[in-house]
Amino acid sequence: MGKRRTAAALLCALLLTGCAGSGAVEADGTAQITEEVKYVALTFDDGPRRATTTRLLDGLKERGAAATFFLVGEEIAGNEDLIRRMAEEGHQVGNHTWSHMRLENASPETVRQEIQRTDEALDAILGPGSYWLRPPYGLLPAKAETLIPVPMVKWSVDPRDWESRDTKKVTDAILKAVKPNSIILLHDIYPTSVDAALQVVDTLQAQGYWFVTVEELLTINGIKPEKGVMYRSGDLPA
Ligand code: NI
Repeated sequence: MGKRRTAAALLCALLLTGCAGSGAVEADGTAQITEEVKYVALTFDDGPRRATTTRLLDGLKERGAAATFFLVGEEIAGNEDLIRRMAEEGHQVGNHTWSHMRLENASPETVRQEIQRTDEALDAILGPGSYWLRPPYGLLPAKAETLIPVPMVKWSVDPRDWESRDTKKVTDAILKAVKPNSIILLHDIYPTSVDAALQVVDTLQAQGYWFVTVEELLTINGIKPEKGVMYRSGDLPA
């Protein structure tokens, strides 16, 4: 793991500092980058929601942590400023369908529309881009590998925050299950989930974790994201 991991850590430092001379990387390219660097991705579904998402963005900014937001198209109107803020502050913005639809048994045409409508709304706010998909409930439509025009993201840690809505339970469940390269599923529409997320950032940063976007997590691990493929963590496929 030595060489690849060191190269990956360096790549991340470059990604996070925008390749500018921040002092994090010295002339030999290895200073201050250790084997102990651990990466993890927080992901938030079902938003944006003004009060909770704003508080989350404030907390992430304060901590220098990046995250990934999978947005429901129907929630976008009126929250354009929050979405612009996500992108400006280094977060990844993705697609969670237009109406939070179960794609499992939907027709190909419906699947295409559900994705395209949100994609167009994001294009209008952020400019054309590759807005990765988290299918609601993690359920794939038939023939996803040819139907879905972007990489897809599932998760490896699910604290079921929507069920308990209990900050301590959610925090404990994440800290018990998390490991380097985890993708953590949360929902930024619950105050308890925002509190849990920020507590998790504080605890894991103290343990040497860096919070990166899903795209960064894959890149750091040498994974080249492909359209129509679902990614569950930053670990290389077995
Ligand atoms: Ni959802």
